[in-house]
Amino acid sequence: MMSALPRLEALPLPLTPAPALPAGYEIAQGRLFYRGLDVLALTERPVFANGRLTRPATPLYVRRLSALRENYAYLNAVFAAAKVQVGYPRHMLLAYASKANPSAAVVKTLLEVGAAYECSSAFDVDVVRHAYAQGWLDRTRPILANGFKIPPYADALLRLRADGFQNLLPIFDDLEELESFAAAGLPFEVGLRARTLSEQPNRFGMDAETLRYAAERLAALPHLRLTTYHAMQTVSAARGLSYQNGLIHSLRGYAALWRHAPTLHRFNFGGGLPARHSGMNFEVWMRQTLGTIMAVCAEEGVPVPDLIFETGRYLVQDHALKLFKVVKTRLGADGVPYYILDGSIMSHFPDAWALGEAFTVLPVNNWDGAFVQARLAGLTCDHDDVYPTRRMNAEPLQLPANTDSLVIGFFECGAYQETLGGRRGAHHCLLPEGGELILEANAHGAPAFSYLDGQDAPAMLGALGYG
Ligand SMILES: Cc1ncc(COP(=O)(O)O)c(C=O)c1O
Repeated sequence: MMSALPRLEALPLPLTPAPALPAGYEIAQGRLFYRGLDVLALTERPVFANGRLTRPATPLYVRRLSALRENYAYLNAVFAAAKVQVGYPRHMLLAYASKANPSAAVVKTLLEVGAAYECSSAFDVDVVRHAYAQGWLDRTRPILANGFKIPPYADALLRLRADGFQNLLPIFDDLEELESFAAAGLPFEVGLRARTLSEQPNRFGMDAETLRYAAERLAALPHLRLTTYHAMQTVSAARGLSYQNGLIHSLRGYAALWRHAPTLHRFNFGGGLPARHSGMNFEVWMRQTLGTIMAVCAEEGVPVPDLIFETGRYLVQDHALKLFKVVKTRLGADGVPYYILDGSIMSHFPDAWALGEAFTVLPVNNWDGAFVQARLAGLTCDHDDVYPTRRMNAEPLQLPANTDSLVIGFFECGAYQETLGGRRGAHHCLLPEGGELILEANAHGAPAFSYLDGQDAPAMLGALGYG
């Protein structure tokens, strides 16, 4: 119970200033507003669950579908403006890399605004079929198929093509994949994935010699038309010159292959775009990137290609946030308190403990009192279930000294965390998932909410075989 929490204000903890707010966040009457949303109100607003009116269950996952539409429209607008400014003569196709967040609400929203779809496994093909059945796309929508095409996945793609998905474009990662599509005899536009420069050992794609062999093999197969050079950029676009250098290397590879296969006319960047509000200037980056492509193609004497971006993180990272209640406090051995949340940080944010990735973490209420340095801990008994995580090697957070009814928000966590941490099923220390609140606008632009309730014991225990 909240009343049983030790009063940290009573302890001689040194006070600290309130944390600085990134753009898009504001405080009013002691509460945090995020892009105009009163965040605390999301946990207070009654919802219908199991036929009764209740409060949303925390940890509460909140999706803002409008952010997905805005991000999709913004990148298209950035390309359109840069195309005019630098005189880029070709088109751009923006695909959603569903691996970043394959939830139905996200996929539906992005398909309905016209995104192409990038899939990576056999079950992802089932998502395409579901989307078709629901009317989110038709059979002319470009579908880019990456991922290792083991037989069940290759078969699912071949069936999709046989069922009339005419713009299904498999991208072969090796010669074996090419042969399984060669044998099937169905007509496809296809891509080849090149091995790109990488700071880590890279297991994807083919080297220049294998690409050339693949292009020759494809030239002998009239039903497979090579159009696409896939060059997954492994350096984030936010890294300026290093990104442009990686891109130049890939463009030289494109040009070399074009000389053997002039049917090539698409250059696919893969992913690598940072989140929309991560601080990168997308307008500058796009102008630079188009300029680089035009310059390298002119130097190499090859036509400028159409472009494909398969973007995951950029489209979805800022559409979601997660809200936790502080249910307990503990003083750490170094005198810094832990605020214990009603869920597991490890389960919800695997990139934080596994990779040391930082999220925007802010208190949602109690801004009108004093602040202290504190760390967050999950409710599990796992040593690593803390934030900042050990890999982050960061200072404690600045949090309100008053922990009564305190709610903590992890913002911009809509990319990858959901499926890396797993949805439903069983989680660490058998802590249940909370509810999911989906924010939409109705036909008149007024806010509309839908709510999926949290996990109950039979659902979790059932997943573990307790019948
Ligand atoms: C082939 C391919 N395309 C696109 C993406 C999406 O990357 P990002 O989330 O950086 O946009 C990935 C991510 O792993 C990928 O493997």
